[in-house]
Amino acid sequence: MFIPEEKISEILRTSDIVEIVSESVILKKSGQNYFGLCPFHSEKTPSFSVNSAKQIFHCFGCGAGGNSLSFIMKYHGLSFPEAARMLARKYNVVIDTQHLDPARKKQLALRESLLRINRKVMDRYQTHLQKDPAGHSARQYLENRGITSATLDEFHLGFALDQWEDMVGFLKKARISRQAALNSGLVKPRENRPGFYDRFRNRIMFPIFDINMQVAGFGGRVMDDQMPKYMNSPETPVYSKTRILYGLHAAKAHCRSQGGVHIVEGYFDFLTLYQNGIKNTVATLGTALTPEHVRILKGYAPTMILVFDSDAAGIAAARRSIQTFMNEGVETRILILPRGEDPDTFVLKNGPDAFLQQADNARSVMPFLRQVAMETHGSSVTGRARVLADILPYLADIQDSALRSLHINELAETLNIDEAAVLEKVREQVVKSKTTRDRRPDTEPSNSELSSDPRERQLLSLMLQWPHIISGVADSGVLDYFYSQTLSRIGQFMVQADPDPDAFVSRIMAGMETDADRDLVASLAMTDGLEDNTDLEDAAAAIIQRIIRIRKKNDSGLTAEIKRAEKCCDTDLMELLKLKQQEIRQLHNGQ
Ligand code: GTP
Ligand code: MN
Repeated sequence: MFIPEEKISEILRTSDIVEIVSESVILKKSGQNYFGLCPFHSEKTPSFSVNSAKQIFHCFGCGAGGNSLSFIMKYHGLSFPEAARMLARKYNVVIDTQHLDPARKKQLALRESLLRINRKVMDRYQTHLQKDPAGHSARQYLENRGITSATLDEFHLGFALDQWEDMVGFLKKARISRQAALNSGLVKPRENRPGFYDRFRNRIMFPIFDINMQVAGFGGRVMDDQMPKYMNSPETPVYSKTRILYGLHAAKAHCRSQGGVHIVEGYFDFLTLYQNGIKNTVATLGTALTPEHVRILKGYAPTMILVFDSDAAGIAAARRSIQTFMNEGVETRILILPRGEDPDTFVLKNGPDAFLQQADNARSVMPFLRQVAMETHGSSVTGRARVLADILPYLADIQDSALRSLHINELAETLNIDEAAVLEKVREQVVKSKTTRDRRPDTEPSNSELSSDPRERQLLSLMLQWPHIISGVADSGVLDYFYSQTLSRIGQFMVQADPDPDAFVSRIMAGMETDADRDLVASLAMTDGLEDNTDLEDAAAAIIQRIIRIRKKNDSGLTAEIKRAEKCCDTDLMELLKLKQQEIRQLHNGQ
């Protein structure tokens, strides 16, 4: 019974140990941990602890410990695959590969083989660093940069020999096919004659782990000032630089427990911060921060601190990333380090506390932008007009209207400009960016999905106007079948609300988080839901039935698949599924 490693990781990520253990042990929270009576030995005072951030359990009495899978195995006396299947069922992780289409199966097999190769190669690089005489200079280099051997071990740093065919030979000996070797990006074809050569030579090697602790790729640094200073694995089926964040696998629990994350640029920045106890840190590895990065991080930390070098490039990068953060609605602060420093050099020089102090003083986005703009343009009359022009697009992007007026107020005060005038400018800008956004082909799915099924709107409209039907709607489960996430969310909100018809619509509107949602509720409430002399309950029942039937027919499992793909960060599959879903929606709208 073969269960792919990535499925095991998915099971571990989606399951919650507190929930699982709670089914068998009464747990009480105390500090960071939960405590209860150990199910594996008899005791009267609780010494069995569960740590939610780390997703592990440990008994101080009998020493038993592990993760959710090992708990299930031990508690229910199951084998590893049996326990995996049990949890997979519970958390809706599909591990039955028999029903996969051949193309997907092949893709999975390729991924598995690349991950296996990478792990072997990581071990080899690590052995070179630790044991090979040729690794001496690399060991020396890392020591000089203050990296401890514990850090080397934890992040499996390694060394690529100064040879052209070390990896080529190794992969051959390990019976890795030429195609698989090429796919891994570790070797490249020779240009003028047949054969391959090693991509990474005479470099310190940093394995890059994905969120599931799999080795997705590698980065390598020269030990002198040769160019290129760093080299990374090319894009492969398991390595995508727009999605991977260096160190996240180790940092995620710390991000959760601290409620925030530091985003730095380089390997050494990450390692030095982590080693110095600032473990809620990830590195972007020289690529611009992508929306995918931010979306992934959001799952671990509600607030983010972007840490940049003090140079102009850093500031420009910060400004570029801000849009990404705003679009994702993440609370962000920007830390620009003193001139000439990066996080690595700063911490080595001043220690972690000084860094945390800097981070504490990091400005949130708007003050940061204001400051940069004012430093650039000065405070003359034209200067202040330019500052205003610089900031406007950012102001217009803020969805929360209360927050927006707060910033408008602050800006008006700092620039000593009439607030009403700033407000007017922002309005113009909002209109302008709305129209340009609507013209863009890649509008947010939430915009297009609003029109995806007229029945969904119709049903919400009825619920808003006749709240007494809401409980019936909830019981039918129809909201889970909605194509539109937005409408489904609003529907769920109504289900939670007090169904008293008195001021129902305005109470619902008051509960909406964005202007867009409020607008939507308003428009739904205004819609005339029913033709004369139609029976309300009959109409609602008919709509519900139709939504569910069509969705089931067209879409069986597709949404669940997309969600799963999203969880595994499998964008390719996700895109494919989304396309398919889009097609179905179009068909469906055409009827
Ligand atoms: P150190 O000099 O080792 O401290 O590196 P750094 O991280 O301070 O360097 P820098 O700020 O120049 O780069 C930040 C990150 O960008 C690095 O960690 C790399 O991931 C990436 N990077 C830098 N230079 C190169 C390069 O020449 N090629 C590629 N592919 N990536 C680079
Ligand atoms: Mn550096």
